[in-house]
Amino acid sequence: MNTILVGAQWGDEGKGKIIDVLTEEADIVVRSQGGNNAGHTVEIGKEKFVLHLIPSGILRKGKKCVISNGVVIDPVALVGEIEGLEKRGIKLANRLLISETAHLVLPYHRKLDEAREIRKGRDKIGTTKRGIGPAYGDKAARTGLRLIDLAQPKVFSAKLKARIEENNAILESLGGEPLKFAEVEKAYLEAGKRLRPFITNTVVWLHRQLEAKKRILFEGAQGTFLDIDFGTYPYVTSSNTTAGGSCTGSGIPPHRMDRVVGVMKAYTTRVGEGPLPTECAEVSDMLHAMGREFGATTGRARRCGWFDAVATRYARMVNGIDDLAITNLDGLDSLKQILVCVAYECRGKKLQYPPNDAEELLHCRPVYRKFAGWQKSTSDVRQFKKLPVNAQKYLKALAELTGAKMKIISVGAQREQTFQA
Ligand code: GDP
Ligand code: IMO
Ligand code: MG
Repeated sequence: MNTILVGAQWGDEGKGKIIDVLTEEADIVVRSQGGNNAGHTVEIGKEKFVLHLIPSGILRKGKKCVISNGVVIDPVALVGEIEGLEKRGIKLANRLLISETAHLVLPYHRKLDEAREIRKGRDKIGTTKRGIGPAYGDKAARTGLRLIDLAQPKVFSAKLKARIEENNAILESLGGEPLKFAEVEKAYLEAGKRLRPFITNTVVWLHRQLEAKKRILFEGAQGTFLDIDFGTYPYVTSSNTTAGGSCTGSGIPPHRMDRVVGVMKAYTTRVGEGPLPTECAEVSDMLHAMGREFGATTGRARRCGWFDAVATRYARMVNGIDDLAITNLDGLDSLKQILVCVAYECRGKKLQYPPNDAEELLHCRPVYRKFAGWQKSTSDVRQFKKLPVNAQKYLKALAELTGAKMKIISVGAQREQTFQA
């Protein structure tokens, strides 16, 4: 059984937590797109881990983890993440594999990301400033550098020199500081040396594992509405965050994928700019007052709102979601009444799916259905039947409106606060 797990909303749905749970039934966990813009949280007892590039499956003993070709890697950040985990007793030797064809995020990508955001002013995307857009831009423009280059220091240095010269000119035209070649070269060659034992041809390795009937779990990063093709463009990230990204980002063909799990919160959040039709200040204030919904990568307060079934319906369609994992139900425990957006009203028309133009989305008004709250803590519940009846009704409605099977419910950040629906 090979499973793709994707975010069905705007990211931060609780993918890390659900991956940690599902890893029990997998042999290998693969990250196939995005970079260290991702922040996946796993809480085990008193320990809290936030993973950015390394698959969340690394926290389960003996499981193998792969960062495959579709990921953009900042090697210095990755070394930092590896060392951070090793310091906490997580062994990575012979457990982590990194694709030699994954593209590098270089310091000029980060600087360009920042400079372009400043230049955009009020129209900024609100990126994580990790250089993700410029790195994927170079990949598409065929001017990127890859891990395979880093393994050949002379080749790498020559290519880097040319790239830095060109990018310094761009940076200066944007009012940024130029980079010093020697500093970048040293830092990257050092990181490359440290990463060498992990770097391999992950396509061939993964196919060998398939032949050996190993079970692979694909850990999606970001969410459907941050997808470069299906998201609220231009307020998106620069990769395919939807199910298809797992195939192109790993070299595993579509017919080897057995199911798609969509993770969604029982409400909606988004971090960064861009339309969010069900955004609601009261929901944001309530969740922030509880100390939750602050970004795992940048610490920014996430924008919050009611559950948007128009969005998740589209996510089900684009990803082919079979099963749903619904997280953060406990966030709604105190409410007397809960709203769910079942359609959009846009210029006199009722829409079942979101319009493709982000501008048009600004004109969409959610059509809400009201649900009675349960006003009882769900954090200690471990069985669907033991949930308050109104919570059961609410969850069933979310699954029905989305159009997929409800499989996993999460009522807290801890590993144990999870059960089958
Ligand atoms: P990811 O990017 O999809 O992995 O999600 P993040 O880790 O960025 O954000 C999800 C946040 O919600 C993290 O702080 C998790 O620890 C937390 N979380 C996940 N599921 C639940 C849940 O059911 N209840 C509560 N209270 N927190 C949860
Ligand atoms: P995980 O995997 C939530 C958002 C940024 C910004 C937009 C573009 O933890 O769910 P980028 O730096 O990628 O160019 O930023 O995408 N974004 C995320 N939001 N969760 C994420 O990852 C995100 N990764 C990027 O906030 O709006
Ligand atoms: Mg996150």
